[in-house]
Amino acid sequence: MPERPYTILSCSISLDGYLGGATRERLVLSNQADLERVDEVRADCDAILVGAATVRSDNPRLVVRCKRLREQRRARGLSESPIKVTVTEHARLDACNNFFAVGDSEKLVYCASPAVREARRRLSPVATVVDGGRRMEVGRLTEDLYDRGVRRLMVEGGGCVHTQFLTSGTVDELHLVLAPFFVGSSRARRFVGDGAFPWDAGHRAHLAETRQIGDVVFLRYGLSSRFEATA
Ligand SMILES: NC(=O)c1ccc[n+]([C@@H]2O[C@H](COP(=O)([O-])OP(=O)(O)OC[C@H]3O[C@@H](n4cnc5c(N)ncnc54)[C@H](OP(=O)(O)O)[C@@H]3O)[C@@H](O)[C@H]2O)c1
Repeated sequence: MPERPYTILSCSISLDGYLGGATRERLVLSNQADLERVDEVRADCDAILVGAATVRSDNPRLVVRCKRLREQRRARGLSESPIKVTVTEHARLDACNNFFAVGDSEKLVYCASPAVREARRRLSPVATVVDGGRRMEVGRLTEDLYDRGVRRLMVEGGGCVHTQFLTSGTVDELHLVLAPFFVGSSRARRFVGDGAFPWDAGHRAHLAETRQIGDVVFLRYGLSSRFEATA
């Protein structure tokens, strides 16, 4: 059977299940203590993946922030931050985005075949563009990451990417942080879109941990037989 990385899907949502606000402005759902928790999870992973829309809208840096954690990675012979990975169909990505411009780690762009030439034209100096085939599937993508040495993958949004990872059954662990407020507009992006998820009323996910972190709640679910309950 093909191998794939142990995969953690991590995100924060509002009480009404949104990933952000209704406007283009970035909405902070987490808090400082929780960001530090996320940093620890990041530092323990080989790669972080986000969708191209998140790269464009949030312009995330996706690096390990804490100096001590970066030094620990260095001592283990790793880059200071995990490899950054994104997926795109149309290659509307800018080499100046923080995703590409910040940090010493490798950057991988999985691009649908029709736009590969355009992606390489835009991004060749700053990233490795991988031809993902006509319709990119999560299973194939994660197998390719495994072949590149990624054993532990963190998926950090957005909703379109969450939906594909969760419906394909390739997530081993879900980290969900609940912020203490409502967004209240269906123009905002939900945690996931429509889809056939392996967990429904008849197949309940395994809730492994709940933790209050200041004013947010951290929920940890085990979603596969590989789930590392003690991690
Ligand atoms: N609260 C949180 O923790 C959190 C975390 C991350 C993001 N967010 C929010 O999530 C929102 C963005 O989410 P989103 O659902 O709109 O977008 P997304 O999941 O970030 O990215 C979607 C894009 O990724 C590319 N893509 C996805 N699947 C693909 C596939 N199978 N093959 C090829 N390309 C694929 C496409 O890029 P192209 O359009 O380039 O073709 C698609 O438009 C933002 O508002 C952001 O603030 C929140």
